[in-house]
Amino acid sequence: MAILDGKPVAEKIHGLIKDEVAAIKKEHGQTPGLTVIMAGDNPASHAYVKSKSKLAEQMGIRSNLLKLPADAQLEEIIKTIEICNTDARIHAVLVQMPLPAHLDSWKILDHIRPEKDVDCFHPFNLGMILLGRSRIFPCTPAGILEILDYYKIDVSGLKIAVVGRSFLVGKPMAMMLSNRNATVTLCHSKTAKLEKITIDADLIVAAVGRPGFIKADMVKPGVILIDVGINHIRHEDDFVANCQPSQYEGFKKKGYAITGDIHFQAYAKASFFTPVPGGVGPLTVTMLMHNTLELCKRSLSVTRDEK
Ligand SMILES: NC(=O)c1ccc[n+]([C@@H]2O[C@H](COP(=O)([O-])OP(=O)(O)OC[C@H]3O[C@@H](n4cnc5c(N)ncnc54)[C@H](OP(=O)(O)O)[C@@H]3O)[C@@H](O)[C@H]2O)c1
Repeated sequence: MAILDGKPVAEKIHGLIKDEVAAIKKEHGQTPGLTVIMAGDNPASHAYVKSKSKLAEQMGIRSNLLKLPADAQLEEIIKTIEICNTDARIHAVLVQMPLPAHLDSWKILDHIRPEKDVDCFHPFNLGMILLGRSRIFPCTPAGILEILDYYKIDVSGLKIAVVGRSFLVGKPMAMMLSNRNATVTLCHSKTAKLEKITIDADLIVAAVGRPGFIKADMVKPGVILIDVGINHIRHEDDFVANCQPSQYEGFKKKGYAITGDIHFQAYAKASFFTPVPGGVGPLTVTMLMHNTLELCKRSLSVTRDEK
């Protein structure tokens, strides 16, 4: 059982990004620019936005936050996006989720121009992934492929179960793995006899949002486990059911523990697994920086556009 540690993968990519950002500044006099649009005051969103701007600063990327009130209307947000769409200093635009309940996320996301769509949620960009022609990918699945590449895990010919079909993780992940010649089964809450699919899988990607959802008896020995889940455990009973005893001290100190969608007893049967925290998590913000750089390079025609 070997750990697929996300940190060295993220650090390697950080080094490459920093070098490329410096080269773009020198050769083109441009600084890659990321703008985050946030409506409302969701505390978790604040923490995410802070971590994005901190990493951007470390990478030499210019980031700025446009804050709108919680009662902002659709038109106001669309107007803000359109200003970003036409500002040449902004190469990447991100609308922080979740948006306040009265707003229709899709109506908003569709307004980000595909060439500035750093999260890769625009239908054009998702369509390009489906066709196997995209050069940027949603951050979390992109980070997972980086982990697999770093640890030299070739998915070609593997039977893969992706559990969870969100547009953020599961659906693009399934397409991206299929484009790498894996045989992928995309599972969801209506999947019948899920355990028959997971036990047969050579690799499982779990993005469900339920602590310890994939149990040890649902996986075969030697399986590769990619755990996307980030679940906050606050109650003692849930801790005992889902977390490793080694996490107890931290749990008591902080009042919560973070655990994934794959039960730690399943990790013990795996040949490789990504831990939570420290596996997939560090790559998501890293790939946001990578995508910002990529969009900037495209705007400068440093890279060719899609084939
Ligand atoms: N590490 C990172 O950087 C990162 C990034 C993004 C997300 N996450 C974490 O990953 C998890 C998933 O996130 P998400 O945004 O993809 O979640 P989501 O939008 O809530 O989607 C959850 C998916 O799980 C499926 N599901 C729910 N119950 C199920 C069941 N009993 N059996 C099989 N499938 C079931 C749902 O199926 P239906 O479609 O049928 O409802 C849905 O497709 C969360 O813990 C989130 O915090 C982590």
